[in-house]
Amino acid sequence: MANPAITKYGIVGIGMMGREHLINLHHLRHHQNLAVVSIADPHPPSRLLAVELAKSLNWDDLNVFSNHEELLESETCDVIVVSSPNMTHHRILMDVIAYPKPHHVLVEKPLCTTVADCKEVMEAAKRRSDHMVVQVGLEYRYMPPVAKLIERVRGGEFGDVKMVAIREHRFPFLVKVNNWNRFNVNTGGTLVEKCCHFFDLMRLFASANPVSVMASGGMDVNHKDEVYDGKVPDIIDNAYVIIEFDNGCRGMLDLCMFAEGSKNEQEISVTGHIGKGEALVPEGIVRFGSRAEGREHVQTIKAEDERIKYEGLHHGSSYLEHLVFLSAIRGEGRAAVDLEDGLMAVAMGVAAQLSIQERRYVSMDEVL
Ligand SMILES: NC(=O)c1ccc[n+]([C@@H]2O[C@H](COP(=O)([O-])OP(=O)(O)OC[C@H]3O[C@@H](n4cnc5c(N)ncnc54)[C@H](O)[C@@H]3O)[C@@H](O)[C@H]2O)c1
Repeated sequence: MANPAITKYGIVGIGMMGREHLINLHHLRHHQNLAVVSIADPHPPSRLLAVELAKSLNWDDLNVFSNHEELLESETCDVIVVSSPNMTHHRILMDVIAYPKPHHVLVEKPLCTTVADCKEVMEAAKRRSDHMVVQVGLEYRYMPPVAKLIERVRGGEFGDVKMVAIREHRFPFLVKVNNWNRFNVNTGGTLVEKCCHFFDLMRLFASANPVSVMASGGMDVNHKDEVYDGKVPDIIDNAYVIIEFDNGCRGMLDLCMFAEGSKNEQEISVTGHIGKGEALVPEGIVRFGSRAEGREHVQTIKAEDERIKYEGLHHGSSYLEHLVFLSAIRGEGRAAVDLEDGLMAVAMGVAAQLSIQERRYVSMDEVL
């Protein structure tokens, strides 16, 4: 097959995750014929770090802009990776989608911070008649143990999935540029910002859509002694969320962000009427068992994916996400995580935040 033309990338928002994308793209550059040609970020220290990083990777002639409008107008890119703070995604996506020259887009999760903004982006993308792939960065699907569990669930090994329990026990939110992640208004709330990953996985495992959400949570340990411009953060650091799906499946999220003393960060269990599967991250272990064969026959395997050339911050999932995205933009596959997936993951988070605020069940119809 002929080598495809070089695919030119621009990265909008070149903080921690933007630089992570830069390194991933570097690891893909030779066998995938691509280059990062432009970056845009209003924060000079982020731009400087990115330029130094690019130089160290032998990407010397980067175009550097202070905002996405200038990057768009430069018409230097075929693809734009949006890795700016959550509250900026909506404006940037609307501008990219409306721009006359088409760009494929990989937008970091969450798609936007509100359901209305996600819908507006979806409508705008639908109006484009040219080939424009917009993929959402819900990359936990690609972590090898999670991907292995998805494969087994889809193969029907556990029967009809009845319960999906996801525990994330981890360290607190990191410090971000201008502390944008300390306030719900910027992030959409912890259950949107962080947990959209898990709501996306629940939909995949359940193979269904959510109908109602009930949650309890609070900011009980972290960030209480932090003050930014006179304001104390309002982001919750722990929650339980219960979701009911339209096929009768139930999901439960157990989030704790003061759990550094935990061996795994994510523990996922999926139980059907025949059997049960579990995925453990970062141990990289998957377990499978059946009701008929019982505990003695539970299999434990180490999940690996030999396509991964760079593990990075997320166990190789960003690398695989880029591979899938590249196939979609080259017409060899479809966007694996589309705008509908992005919207639903945000909507479940919004419903959970509302449930905590109003101390009641929230139906998905209310938020959608
Ligand atoms: N996939 C994942 O698991 C994962 C992990 C971390 C972060 N993220 C997402 O990545 C995005 C960025 O997070 P981060 O951790 O890199 O934050 P960060 O604060 O480290 O970096 C954000 C960068 O965006 C820049 N920025 C701010 N406004 C901008 C604008 N209007 N246009 C362009 N750049 C702008 C900031 O100056 C900063 O350099 C967020 O949406 C976050 O939710 C995803």
